[in-house]
Amino acid sequence: MSDVFQFPDDFLWGAATSAYQIEGSPLADGAGPSIWHRFSHTPGLTLNGDTGDVACDHYRLYESDVALMADIGLNAYRFSISWSRVLPEGTGPVNQKGLDFYSRLVDALLKRDIAPNVTLYHWDLPAALDDRGGWLNRDIAQWFTDYAGIMFDALGDRVPMWATINEPWVVTDGGYLHGKLAPGHRNLFESPIASHNLLRSHGMAVEAFRGSQATKNGKIGLVVNLEPQYEASDSAEDVAATARADAYMNRQYLDPLFLGRYPDEMAKIFGEAWIEHTADDMKLIAQPADFLGINYYKRNVTRHDMIQEPVRTSGVHQPDNVHTEIGWEVYPPALTRILLWVRERYGDIPLYITENGAAFNDPPAATGGVVDDPARVEYIHGHLLAAREAMRQGVNLRGYFVWSLLDNYEWAHGYSTRFGIVHVNYETQERTIKSSGKFYSSVVKTNGGALEDEAAFLEEPALPPPV
Ligand code: FCB
Repeated sequence: MSDVFQFPDDFLWGAATSAYQIEGSPLADGAGPSIWHRFSHTPGLTLNGDTGDVACDHYRLYESDVALMADIGLNAYRFSISWSRVLPEGTGPVNQKGLDFYSRLVDALLKRDIAPNVTLYHWDLPAALDDRGGWLNRDIAQWFTDYAGIMFDALGDRVPMWATINEPWVVTDGGYLHGKLAPGHRNLFESPIASHNLLRSHGMAVEAFRGSQATKNGKIGLVVNLEPQYEASDSAEDVAATARADAYMNRQYLDPLFLGRYPDEMAKIFGEAWIEHTADDMKLIAQPADFLGINYYKRNVTRHDMIQEPVRTSGVHQPDNVHTEIGWEVYPPALTRILLWVRERYGDIPLYITENGAAFNDPPAATGGVVDDPARVEYIHGHLLAAREAMRQGVNLRGYFVWSLLDNYEWAHGYSTRFGIVHVNYETQERTIKSSGKFYSSVVKTNGGALEDEAAFLEEPALPPPV
């Protein structure tokens, strides 16, 4: 096969963020609190008690942030809407000022030819809806669809790409099963209920999208995080464990969406906490989507582990490979594998990598306007090559969004963990494009051409001036 690969001219080169992680001012201009506001303001739940009160102050600095995106050369930007900015109570009266913020952001992006890619739900449920049961209440599908309809009407004429929900697996695993993320529940019985209601909400919103005049030129899909599972050994126990982990993480959402049923392993995993669902629900969930967004960070080498209920698996550390600051193994070939797997199992759906990136110990501050982060350059380079390899093998990949544009509030890890291609000084809000941002910019501006050239890029790091 030839080494020269041409990315399609309309390939999306983007960066991703989410509302609570960057905006700050969570209660400004009439917004209501979200479950993340409450969670982060509860002592002991986040590292150092960090909250999203200020974050990257993007709510106020959005115009210069959009200018920064244009400097980097992005042609797309993925961000999320804070539901409780728009609907402070989650349902009922609209807070016009909240809606206006997103309208101004979309206009600022379009002015610079950056395609807005909107996620309706990136984990910050209005607290008022949590008080009514949140994702455990079946009515949430209607609440979510009403909110989605407001956004479709307000932005549908200008936004070409919509995602309903970001990472339903994390919402339920982190929010309802293990309690590490908002709303912080630890309940085996709640997790499958929340999963099902997330999927029903997705389906109902897609149905509304199809019926809306405002969005007739737009596309809609779901964003999932996928972690390819590799068997730790060929023992029957590890093989079965790997299948369970794969069902739990990867097929739990995609099988209902594309095949109209849950994986058989789910009943085994959840035991009496598993519930069967009606054919009507499954039909609603399986509305045809226009694309699938895949967030990929790492793989898992999986073994049987009785202690780790309910899936009874654990990951085996791979000492020979690089790991990021939060212990995630760097393993780009698994990205090629998961893209090929999605096509093989679910068909030739247009795919986007909606998140991919790494937390590394960057220099703590920009020195002389420079933040050199070679490990992140390599991470992004390796994963772009892996994505390109999948495209070579025929995968219909239409875009790549690096996580993240900015260093930001990494949920329960607070500000300790930096994922940005742009460094943020949290005291001054100064932004500095890191080496990884410069590398990504060179890739973006050459439509992938600079991928051939990472070595040259790394050989000439911009060094801080001598003191
Ligand atoms: C993903 C989330 C995103 C960010 C990255 C590191 O699971 O969607 O908000 O936290 O992980």
